[in-house]
Amino acid sequence: MAAFHRVTVYDRQRGKTHSADLPEGAYVLQAFEALGTPLPFSCRNGVCTACAVKVLEGEVEQPEALGLSRSLKEKGYALLCVAKVCGAVVAETQSEDEVYMLQFGQVFARGRVRKAIPLEEH
Ligand code: FES
Repeated sequence: MAAFHRVTVYDRQRGKTHSADLPEGAYVLQAFEALGTPLPFSCRNGVCTACAVKVLEGEVEQPEALGLSRSLKEKGYALLCVAKVCGAVVAETQSEDEVYMLQFGQVFARGRVRKAIPLEEH
């Protein structure tokens, strides 16, 4: 029999807190949806960061979270669509733009993309 763990997600965008005992190994986003609790998502494949959260207590397993840098994972960010329950956890949703800027903001701060060199006509 699978162990269950208390998972709490504060949905900042909607101002709601969701909490449930979810089975170990379940994907958090899918498990909440199965209980009738929608949370933010888009790609559902660990790439876009629309489902990003900051883990405040506990941890999740997320080897498929390709959309997050190692650095952000180490800072406690996770992607709920590919985050598996492995213990009690408390997390809060993030703005997709916020996470995007954390990951890529330094690149954009270098300035705009330069115009391409005109191609010669043949
Ligand atoms: S929904 Fe796109 S990374 Fe989770």
